[in-house]
Amino acid sequence: MLAILTPENNDLYRDLYFVHLLSAICAFGPLFVYPRLQRAGDTEGIAKLHMRFVFPALIVLWVAGMGMAGVGKISLAGTPFVTATIVLWLVALVASWFLIRPALSHPDESAKSKLSMGVGITHVVLVVALYLMIFKPGGYSFN
Ligand code: HEM
Repeated sequence: MLAILTPENNDLYRDLYFVHLLSAICAFGPLFVYPRLQRAGDTEGIAKLHMRFVFPALIVLWVAGMGMAGVGKISLAGTPFVTATIVLWLVALVASWFLIRPALSHPDESAKSKLSMGVGITHVVLVVALYLMIFKPGGYSFN
């Protein structure tokens, strides 16, 4: 019988869980100060913070999430909340790269509006991904 791993019953799972949650905070937390920085006209500052801190945190988030799925033998394709979150994570990655990153080198009006769109998309990803990860609609499927 397959047991669901939890941070309480498996050390490696707990370590990955810790890294996963810490990186989720680092990947999404700074977004809440972006509107303030933007109002202050610091478009370039936002883009730098994003690419040096938030973007790497998004990568670590994925690595730890995949690690948990691997250690817990959770099927990536057969577990709807995991499959959907991987797609959402990809959306956040694409928005970071194509909408937020350009403001690093071109802090003009078009980069500014792309930046707002990128931040908006990433906010939505956060809320939906958090819902999926916590409510786990569809339940688990194991390898
Ligand atoms: C995109 C943003 C993401 C956020 C905000 C997020 C957040 C969370 C949270 C809060 C939990 C804890 C849920 C619980 O204890 O019940 C969790 C668990 C988990 N996450 Fe994520 N996550 C994200 C992306 C990912 C990605 C890309 C993967 C890739 C596989 C992933 C895989 C997992 C797995 C396997 C668990 C453990 C589920 C369990 O058994 O409790 N997550 N995540």
